[in-house]
Amino acid sequence: WVLTVTAQTPTNIAVIKYWGKRDEDLILPINDSISVTLDPDHLCTTTSVAVSPAFIHDRMWLNGKEVSLSGGRYQNCLRELRSRASDVEDEQKGIKITKKDWEKMHVHIVSYNNFPTAAGLASSAAGLACLVFSLAKLMNVRDDHSRLSAIARQGSGSACRSLYGGFVKWIMGKEENGSDSIAVQLADEKHWDDLVIIIAVVSSRQKETSSTSGMKDTVETSMLIEHRAKEVVPKRIIQMEEAIKNRDFPAFARLTCADTICVLLIDLIKIKAFTFQDNQLRRKMESFQGTPQVAYTFDAGPNAVLISHNRKAAALLLQRLLFYFPPNPDADLNSYVIGDKTI
Ligand code: DP6
Repeated sequence: WVLTVTAQTPTNIAVIKYWGKRDEDLILPINDSISVTLDPDHLCTTTSVAVSPAFIHDRMWLNGKEVSLSGGRYQNCLRELRSRASDVEDEQKGIKITKKDWEKMHVHIVSYNNFPTAAGLASSAAGLACLVFSLAKLMNVRDDHSRLSAIARQGSGSACRSLYGGFVKWIMGKEENGSDSIAVQLADEKHWDDLVIIIAVVSSRQKETSSTSGMKDTVETSMLIEHRAKEVVPKRIIQMEEAIKNRDFPAFARLTCADTICVLLIDLIKIKAFTFQDNQLRRKMESFQGTPQVAYTFDAGPNAVLISHNRKAAALLLQRLLFYFPPNPDADLNSYVIGDKTI
């Protein structure tokens, strides 16, 4: 017999960024962060997980290719989930797996991203959140979303925020074991549903440095990162929570832009080469700064994420983008993704 579960998890875009860890193994951040989770049918990962007595190893396939599960991050997630598993019974199929059985049962994981992986969009957030969520269902893990977020966090920090829709805060926590470093929902997806997110997908140049090594580098070499984590972000988090609660778009846009520029500058002045790519598109996006109608942000790659306060404004913004920066793979701009449409 084979027992399967399938789940779908969207990616999230940070508006107050997580940048820097205080513990590399447990993935504990040096500051709180806030993100917006995209709609499930947009940029998301679909994962099917299966268990069977016929499986002799844990195995995983990502976008059709087998990937290794030997890394510490996957192993930490699998170990935590197994330790929290409960009895599973399916009388019709004659299946009974006890809590103890889960220690020796193996799982197969098949995962797909519905967006081009080559685009370098925050795929680890959706991927690890989906992996943890689907395995938790398969293994009948009874913990709530916040506990599951702490497990997903150990797969990739930003993944913990994808367990919830809407606006999500990852609380950095104080405990050394990370038990209080969890994600919580600030507002659900209906709270501010006229926001529109447009992602400018940059094609040819992939991020040269991963977020993981980029932020490690920053923590080790930047003089300003501590100031950001201790002085700047705590104030910004309070202001951003207020802006979200009141649906105050100008404040939301100002804080989002300020935070992405802050991380970019810290990254630029550190001793080693910078992670956040300097490209034409980024410089052009600066022309939007100060426009109360648009918020923009970058993750640790060249893709620009624009947030517009309603559909009408988004349509005008898109018109402007297509006019000034038409998609052109030679100039590193492949396409725009708006909701489920790609232009
Ligand atoms: C710039 O979550 O990918 O997107 O925890 O090392 O896996 P690891 O890093 P990751 O970093 C995301 C960084 C960011 C900002 C953010 O999402 O908050």
